Amino acid sequence: MTTAAANQDDAAQADQTTSGEPILRVLGLHKAFGDQQVLRGIDLDIPTGQITVIIGGSGSGKSVLIKHLVALLRPDRGEVRFHGRNLFDMSDLELLEARKHFGMLFQNAALFDSMSVYDNVAFPLREHLKLSKAAERERVMAALQELKVDYAELKFPSELSGGMRKRVALARATILRPQILIYDEPTTGLDPVMITQVDDMIAETQERLQVTSVVISHDMASTFRIAHRIAMLHEGQIVEVGSPAVFKASSNPVVRRFIFVSGTGPLQAATAPPAAATAPPGAA
Ligand SMILES: Nc1ncnc2c1ncn2[C@@H]1O[C@H](COP(=O)(O)OP(=O)(O)O)[C@@H](O)[C@H]1O
Ligand SMILES: [Mg+2]
Repeated sequence: MTTAAANQDDAAQADQTTSGEPILRVLGLHKAFGDQQVLRGIDLDIPTGQITVIIGGSGSGKSVLIKHLVALLRPDRGEVRFHGRNLFDMSDLELLEARKHFGMLFQNAALFDSMSVYDNVAFPLREHLKLSKAAERERVMAALQELKVDYAELKFPSELSGGMRKRVALARATILRPQILIYDEPTTGLDPVMITQVDDMIAETQERLQVTSVVISHDMASTFRIAHRIAMLHEGQIVEVGSPAVFKASSNPVVRRFIFVSGTGPLQAATAPPAAATAPPGAA
């Protein structure tokens, strides 16, 4: 082996150990429905303990992609490695075990309507752990308190506001202390004040639990507010991946167009220099 090749090997190894293994690695993922090729070779690392936001236009395949991350869909080709192991090589039992480490929040915060808030949040505990009633209560109430909805323990989902429902859904998704939390468009359809609250809730939860978070979004203001890392899906591939700074400075026309089109409202406030954003009209 030449010295240069040896050095490259060392460098690759050093990089892997210093930056930490990504908790999830997506490799060459392909998925078609009939003639429609939705994913055309997705490669993406999800770094441990960070918030990764996946952006892309409506119908670009964001939900299809994250359903592969939790093996709700099987790819035609490619792998999703969780701690280095391909989910699609696992036995049913191994997959069941792996899934315990994933929490998922679907777009409409699907709670069980016939169950109280308390029972909704206790549900995963009862499914997976055998806790005493006292231990269960302690854990459920702690989760509700963290998300400031403990006063609603006896209410039913239909009695809650949209924001409270999101909080209860998050309490339920985190009650088993997952390693990875996945949110599918958590702010779609919310008003601007609530969008900010849900963004804060995602960021606070990531910090408090040190949980790797994957958020699907098509809202650039939200994305820039919470992301440590952004990946853009377009025509079945990841066309750009990097920090928010990388995205703001991107010269990729697809990325620029997406930021521009989805940024006609709050994006300007999010990216404009602070002086311009805070000055009242005509102040200059
Ligand atoms: N189970 C399915 N069967 C057939 N087509 C699907 C299925 N799920 C998604 N699709 C198609 O895949 C494309 C991407 O969908 P989706 O991932 O939901 O987009 P989005 O980026 O808006 O989340 C869409 O054209 C959708 O109709
Ligand atoms: Mg979707």
